[in-house]
Amino acid sequence: MTPKLILTGFMATGKSSAGRLVARRLSWDFVDVDAVIVERAAKSIAQIFADHGEEHFRRLERDVVALLAGDRRRCPHCHGPHPEVISTGGGVLVDESNCTALKRVGVIVCLTARPEVVAARVERSKTRRPKLAESGKSTLARIKELMDDRAGAYARADVQIDSSDLTPEQVADHVIAAFGANAARRILPPAQPSRSA
Ligand code: S3P
Repeated sequence: MTPKLILTGFMATGKSSAGRLVARRLSWDFVDVDAVIVERAAKSIAQIFADHGEEHFRRLERDVVALLAGDRRRCPHCHGPHPEVISTGGGVLVDESNCTALKRVGVIVCLTARPEVVAARVERSKTRRPKLAESGKSTLARIKELMDDRAGAYARADVQIDSSDLTPEQVADHVIAAFGANAARRILPPAQPSRSA
């Protein structure tokens, strides 16, 4: 039985690029929660925040997570769940119901990165990231603040991988290895205590 591989983590930790690479290597489908939200709302994430506020965005996000977690398709080869890599936005695990729904269908791999690395990566895309633009703080201070607030949420993932010093290919290697270890643990029956003769 093949559970889904869910890639989550703070903004700019490399979820989408690693997710696409992992999906290509496993020959699995790839789906990005934010891309589905944008398609359904027919507007950008920044525009959804600007027009309707964060609460509305989080509702749309919960709907899409529930939709993807409720996937009833089966794999034509093993007849287990349809194999898929799901990449999420950085705030998905903050809502415990998202985490519960995703854990039921797969292994949650959370990418992390040092705040300075994230700050450098988002430099050119800050305006597309409302959670970074909404405070009067410097980008680095805001990133540290949000990471602190979310540390508990990210700790709910099955495994965390620091992508700070890794290439996308290396991140993909680590993700596939971590997924294999966790999926095996999830599916295999617990080891029986050995009986002495
Ligand atoms: C958010 C992260 C974004 C997007 C939205 C909110 C967050 O996705 O979902 O702007 O709260 O961390 P990325 O993590 O892909 O940038």
